[in-house]
Formats: sequence, C-alpha cells, structure tokens
Amino acid sequence: MLILNKKASDCSESEVTDQSIYLNRRQFMKTTAGVALGVGAIGQVSAALQEGNPLSPSSSLVSSFQNIVETSYGKGDKVSPFNVATSYNNFYEFGYGKSDPKDRSSSLKTAPWTISVEGEAERTGVFDLDDIINESVLEERIYRLRCVEAWSMVIPWVGVSLASVLKRFQPTSKAKYVYFETLYDPKQMPGQLGGGLDWPYREGLRIDEAMNPLAFLAVGMYGSILPNQNGAPVRLVLPWKYGFKSIKSIVKIRFVETMPETTWSMLAPSEYGFYANVNPSVDHPRWSQQQERRLPGGVLFPNVIETKMFNGYEEEVASLYAGMDLKRFY
Ligand code: MTE
Repeated sequence: MLILNKKASDCSESEVTDQSIYLNRRQFMKTTAGVALGVGAIGQVSAALQEGNPLSPSSSLVSSFQNIVETSYGKGDKVSPFNVATSYNNFYEFGYGKSDPKDRSSSLKTAPWTISVEGEAERTGVFDLDDIINESVLEERIYRLRCVEAWSMVIPWVGVSLASVLKRFQPTSKAKYVYFETLYDPKQMPGQLGGGLDWPYREGLRIDEAMNPLAFLAVGMYGSILPNQNGAPVRLVLPWKYGFKSIKSIVKIRFVETMPETTWSMLAPSEYGFYANVNPSVDHPRWSQQQERRLPGGVLFPNVIETKMFNGYEEEVASLYAGMDLKRFY
C-alpha cells in the first residue's frame, strides 16, 4: 500500500535512481520467511541477521517486516548504499572511528529490550519494546540524514511515527519536553569505559517537535531490522535536525516540564544547541554548514551539495519555530 503524502521536501524525479540494494533485501525477507507470525523478538531477529544467518521462519517479527507500509516520503531521493549506511557510523558507545560501530557492536544484546517510560504521563512503567511496537503497522520512510559534521546520506527507515507511540503513554499538560536516554552498560558498550562523552547518551525534544508527524521511531532500515551499529533495536530519526539528535538504542523516555540536558549541548554548548535544526546560515564555530558531502563520495568525486534549511523539510516543520531567532536557538 502506498500512502500519498507528497511534500515539497520530496526530491525531484531527476534524483531517482536504482534502489535495488534494499529492495533485494526486502525480497530476501519475503522469500525466506514464508510463514505469517505475530510481532515480537526484535532483538532476536536482529541477532540472527547480524550473525549472517538467514531469517528463521519462526522469527516472530517476520510478518511485520513483510507488511511494511510504503509511504511517499523521499521517494525521489537516491538511497545511499546499504554497505555505506552500515559501515560509516557515529555511535560513540563503540568507539570514535567511523567503522568502530560496525566492527565492535556485536556485543550489544538487543533482546529482551525494555524501555522505561517516566515522568509527566498517565501511563508510566517499564515496557517491553515488542509490546510497544506490537500495536503498530510498520512504515517505510526514506529520509535524508544530515550530520553536523557536514556529510549526509539517504536512508529508508522502517518504524512508526514517534507521536503514535508517545500518545499511548498519555502525556499530561505538564509534559513540555521529552527526554531520551541510550543504554548505559560498558560491558556491552565498551566505548563507555572511556571519557569523552558524559554517559549515558542523552537527547531531548520539545513536545510539539516530538509530536510532529515527521519525527520517527525506527526499528529497521532497508526493509530489515536495524543493525546494531545503526542503533538497534530502536532509535529516533529526526530528519530536519542534525544527526546527533537521532539518539540510538533507547532505554528511557521521560516526559518533563523543563528543557532537559542533552549530551552534546552539555559537552560544548557554544557548538551544539538543544534545537540543532539543520541551518545552512548558522555555521558551526569551526566549519561552514552551507554544504554537505552526500555519501558515498570520495576524493575524486566528493559529491558536495548545498545544504537546505531544515534539511529540505521546511514545509513540514518551519511552523514549529515561528518567531524564534534560529541564530540564537541553534
Ligand atoms: N546515539 C548514540 N546513543 N550515540 C551516538 O554516538 N551519534 C549520533 C546519532 N545518535 C550517536 C547517536 C550522531 S553524531 C549521528 S550523525 C547519528 O547517530 C548517526 O547515525 P548513523 O550512524 O545510523 O548514520
């Protein structure tokens, strides 16, 4: 099924090219798992795939991934190759090198996985991720990901709208912000043994940002479950913000009344703000944000493109910031 919700942010036809890599992957999922089963065991499926095993027909997530609802988000974008999106990563819990997350994240056990929901909401407690996702139909959304380091990719995510999940916890009128936290477990995430960042990784959104239809909670990409290096088993995807807002491997969601502290704004407040909206007219103090390197691209073919306001999602999100000085609230 195709949901038609074409927006100005969708790219032009001229950018459409072959998406065979991930379509083949989805085809693989369909043909390998012929049995319709219930939803569950996200981490189990994740582990199976990451070990290079074909999906077992008894894997209970299979039916959800077989029935992913396509959307028109980003249908015109040229999708980045799967091997680039899964080997050039930022996930400092596994090291600071771009290939560290791929090389070192097999220690992360993604099942069972629970999320603690806390704070200003009617329904709080510890919930199994499977139960949270169970109630939803998975969607595919192709979003541009623009890192604050001035590189970008285009990734077909699989998941659910963040609002649809948050609303189930019935936030109260005191919930002005939502805070997210990544797992803290240095045994599984050896990068946390080192300094650099103040662990656990923390992020936050204003409640209206979190409820914006563009905000997405991903459990998969390229038609399959999330690889560990991309934030398994569940992560945020906020395509109008710099990539560091899209927190990975979430274990805590807290509804709060005041603006929460976030990892990068605590570390270097003059370089990384709470909002972190993609904005080519506000440079990082140490480099320009006017352009980006769309991956893959190398020395001979750097593939540099102009960065767009809100990463091209202006129509969807600009109203969230009406009247705000975005040079001050960067
Ligand atoms: N989440 C956690 N927990 N730890 C991280 O180091 N890095 C962020 C974000 N989420 C990060 C994180 C940054 S800087 C970016 S650009 C994106 O993840 C990268 O996502 P990707 O590796 O899937 O492309």
